[in-house]
Amino acid sequence: MAKLIAVTGKGGTGKTTVAALMVRHLRAHTAGPVLALDADPDANLGTVLGIPIGKTIGDLREETAEQINNLPAGLSKAHYIQAGLHEIIVELPKVDLITMGRSEGPGCYCYLNSLLRRFGEDLHDTYPWIVVDNEAGLEHLSRRTTSRIDHLIVVVNGSMLAVDCARRITELVADMKNEVKQKHFLINGVRDDRVAAIRQKLEALGLNYLGDLPRDEALENQVFEGRSLFDLDDGSPAVLKMNEIMKKLMED
Ligand SMILES: Nc1ncnc2c1ncn2[C@@H]1O[C@H](COP(=O)(O)OP(=O)(O)OP(=O)(O)O)[C@@H](O)[C@H]1O
Ligand SMILES: [Mg+2]
Repeated sequence: MAKLIAVTGKGGTGKTTVAALMVRHLRAHTAGPVLALDADPDANLGTVLGIPIGKTIGDLREETAEQINNLPAGLSKAHYIQAGLHEIIVELPKVDLITMGRSEGPGCYCYLNSLLRRFGEDLHDTYPWIVVDNEAGLEHLSRRTTSRIDHLIVVVNGSMLAVDCARRITELVADMKNEVKQKHFLINGVRDDRVAAIRQKLEALGLNYLGDLPRDEALENQVFEGRSLFDLDDGSPAVLKMNEIMKKLMED
């Protein structure tokens, strides 16, 4: 049964970066394979990992809605969708990527959505670790597109708005007791002299402190130059810190 890590938080706090560094760590330190799931419609987890983005689940949903009444004789709806689902997994050694893309256009997708749910459950049997990069804010939690979370990671930076967002996330997950096992926070790119104050605010919300990721110039350059975070130097400050953070998380 997979352990599912869901990364959340306010826009621009570093969710995609954190998710990518976690995928990188799991790929290097576990037998794998790791599933990287990009649940942000503004997809870019694949991009920072340097994995080409193939067909998205949103594409498949649209395609199915268009084609469903024109399927060749003998090809059932279920077969058509199953075949499509295989196309959306991009496979690399020890890591696979699935990109959700845009969801819910007009029309009823109940049938497809129930197949997707089953597909999602099957993924839990295939991958020991699943890392989900979510869109900013709370929408994904209220829609419950992310189910059965083992580790919810709220990323905060030095902005009080990010701390407020963390508070609202905490309130929302309080009603999801059985679905979210552990709630953590991670401080990203905050000046050393401010870490303690932010940590105190977040711990008061009942979140578990995982650590603070330093602002890492090499990482910033790597992303700016369009190079994969898989190729970031092992000695880079953010990578070293993520090693510590993941060690802590995987012990739980
Ligand atoms: N620790 C860090 N060191 C250096 N640069 C960082 C760090 N964390 C994030 N960044 C940079 O900050 C920017 C925003 O990060 P990222 O895209 O991960 O945020 P996000 O929360 O996923 O944003 P969005 O809400 O738009 O999805 C990116 O350019 C990223 O490379
Ligand atoms: Mg992002």
